[in-house]
Amino acid sequence: MASVLPRPFWHLPDATVTPEHLFHSRRDFLKSMGFIGGGITAGFPLIGAEPTPLLPSLANSKPKRNPDFDPKDPLSSESAAISYNNFCEFSTTKTRVRELVGSFRIDPWTVLVDGLCEAPFKLALAALATAFPVEERVYRFRCVEAWSMVVPWTGFQLSKIIEKAKPKSEAKFVSFTTALRPEEMPGVRRLADYPWPYTEGLRLDEALHPLTFMATGLYGKPLPKQNGAPVRLVVPWKYGYKSIKSVVRIEFTSKQPSTLWETLSPVEYPFESNVDPKISHPRWSQASERRVDTGDRVSTQYLNGYADLVGSLYPNRKG
Ligand code: MTE
Repeated sequence: MASVLPRPFWHLPDATVTPEHLFHSRRDFLKSMGFIGGGITAGFPLIGAEPTPLLPSLANSKPKRNPDFDPKDPLSSESAAISYNNFCEFSTTKTRVRELVGSFRIDPWTVLVDGLCEAPFKLALAALATAFPVEERVYRFRCVEAWSMVVPWTGFQLSKIIEKAKPKSEAKFVSFTTALRPEEMPGVRRLADYPWPYTEGLRLDEALHPLTFMATGLYGKPLPKQNGAPVRLVVPWKYGYKSIKSVVRIEFTSKQPSTLWETLSPVEYPFESNVDPKISHPRWSQASERRVDTGDRVSTQYLNGYADLVGSLYPNRKG
């Protein structure tokens, strides 16, 4: 199935539902690999105590807006941002995700930071709100499906985590993994042929860039589950699927990591995935985008309008 082009997120036939016995053997395999349960988190120092009342700790902090990143664009409406979501572990119907995240447990939560680094560690939930300087940033966000929004994220630079872990000189990439709990994520059973868990990756220099953000909040409130609670990546100059939700692992690697979407269709969803209006998706133009709340059509900008900040990462490319 991995060789078949996936339809992006919608209209998946019921025939893709895995029979129960096949589902369980796959689950056993994932468990044995440590992707389900606590296996991969054993043996590293833990920062922040568990269990933790996440919501009060994040809600009480009033992070200051960092004006350095303010775009000229008007903010999108909060209601649109929290009710029109891509989170295929729950549903491929954007408006249904919000209804299906109810039983997804985000406390306790641990993010494992490991791989090719001198100082691997585990971040518990409390540490997400307290271990790094938290601020608010308004970013443009552009989905590969040609819709977009402008929203205020609360969180911290990914570089803070990277600096703490001290990557070794062989580390050239960073791989990210989403939690995989099929009992709480109905979409995982439906999309049984997808290479779960959801994974993404960046070059190390992209991951270290000050724009690259770990979000724990949205519109000054704790991040809603449908938007990737308790912590997600936000890479505003790349298509939205790079901004992986509900992260449980950050791993330093020497080789380019495989990602869920690139594994499914490298032509449609390549690893780099920088926003570029001149490069069409094989099935649609990327020249313009539709704002999720107003429906306004706006021209798409090279690197989603962040070329002045990140253009030097791609010296051979022109917008
Ligand atoms: N992360 C996970 N784990 N699963 C997903 O399906 N969808 C991606 C990205 N992160 C996705 C994910 C896509 S395609 C987009 S456009 C954004 O999340 C959507 O983020 P939003 O729902 O907060 O707007």
